Amino acid sequence: MKIKFKYAIYILIIGSFFSLTSCADAGDDSNIAKAIALGSPIINNATDVNSNSFKISWPRVYDADNYELDVATNNTFESYVTGYQAKPVSTLNEQVIGLKEATNYFYRVRAINSSETSKNSAVIQVTTLEGNDPEPTTYLKEASTTFMVGMAVKAEQLTNGSKYDEILKNEFSSISAEYEMKMNIIEPTKGNYDWSKADAIVDYAIANGINVHGHALVWHESAPDWLANYTGTDAEFEQEVKNYITAVLTRYKGKVASWDVVNEAINDSNGALRNSIYRQKMGDNFVAKCFQFAREADPDVLLFYNDYAVTTNKTKQTAIFNLIDDLQANNTPIDGVGFQMHIKYNSPSVDEIKTAVDKAVERDLKLHFSELDVRVNPNKDITTFTTERAVAQKNKIKEVVSVYNAIPLENKYAITVWGMKDDDSWVINQYNNTNEWPLLYDSNFEIKKAHTGFLQGLE
Ligand code: XIL
Repeated sequence: MKIKFKYAIYILIIGSFFSLTSCADAGDDSNIAKAIALGSPIINNATDVNSNSFKISWPRVYDADNYELDVATNNTFESYVTGYQAKPVSTLNEQVIGLKEATNYFYRVRAINSSETSKNSAVIQVTTLEGNDPEPTTYLKEASTTFMVGMAVKAEQLTNGSKYDEILKNEFSSISAEYEMKMNIIEPTKGNYDWSKADAIVDYAIANGINVHGHALVWHESAPDWLANYTGTDAEFEQEVKNYITAVLTRYKGKVASWDVVNEAINDSNGALRNSIYRQKMGDNFVAKCFQFAREADPDVLLFYNDYAVTTNKTKQTAIFNLIDDLQANNTPIDGVGFQMHIKYNSPSVDEIKTAVDKAVERDLKLHFSELDVRVNPNKDITTFTTERAVAQKNKIKEVVSVYNAIPLENKYAITVWGMKDDDSWVINQYNNTNEWPLLYDSNFEIKKAHTGFLQGLE
């Protein structure tokens, strides 16, 4: 009995030894020899860091035949750099290439032999350097040979000889009025037209050989008070809208090449028709009616439907193209679609832009990126314009322009930027954020990286 008890204790001791070793090598049920696991590499800091590459290295790991390298843009390794997810490396260093400037990267290495893979090394962070943007050798409108490059303007900015005027004439081949060709400005009180600002803009364009895109005939945000609070009958309301469209298109026939006939008719939340005063008074087919009025007044002008969040809000995107399908099915004259493109440094993705763009191309529409700006501080997490955000903005603009530049010639119209200098941008008021830098020029009229991104998108 005594002897048996002694054996039982031995068995317990040996048993716990085995279970301890298998704990140390969790998940591996092979023999004790396995307890000496393949060591993980001691990774070094990056060297030879420049704007698009860096070099990493590590000392040899005993018993390793090979290594595997991960490089990602986040430290949880969810978004890998293309080609650097578990990349096999047989030497003790690697030049990581094809990177973006001024961007954070994270890397780690594992050792491998024929029977096992080590744990990962520590994770090391490295930031690529800012690249040297060469001085541009061409202006935007010259570099863009197949579509116009537009600018949103205010009449007061169009003073001959000003810095603004110089840049506008050099770089841009089209203009849109930022707000002075909207109904609250042109017909502020019923029947009294004020053409002064609109005429100044159109005359400037004609004098300088610049295209004019008319913006915008029917927009709930710019309905003058007398129309927004209309007291007459629905038929009278509709007649007012028709009179307005007719008056504007007649005045600018042959001078304004294209118009946003209806702006922002679709709701963000559910893709339904926005319940604007126009819909309430003219019915669900108010959009079709407005396009008809426009076509009757000018048979040659290009007629656009214009809206925002077309690339990012899928419900809205579907609704907008359903609306356009209905117009086309009923032979309503529509020539094009405008994507406003008030976007962010990190959204939309290239794929999102392409998906939306394809829908316009499939329908034989002209496509206008009509109000481009790229917010770099949508979450208000920076107080100065960092190099990292400047680069991200540049890359986003490059993506936008290169997707646009790749569409067929017959679908092209223009990319219009919504303001020249950062401090003139409407987004500062719109989002109550003075820490925004959404445009191609800084407040001193200096070219930004975003401008370089536009040019690179055209290459
Ligand atoms: C904005 C202008 O930038 C502002 O100056 C004006 O006060 C309000 O309108 N979508 C549009 C544009 O279609 O007309 C808007 O422009 C921005 C959002």
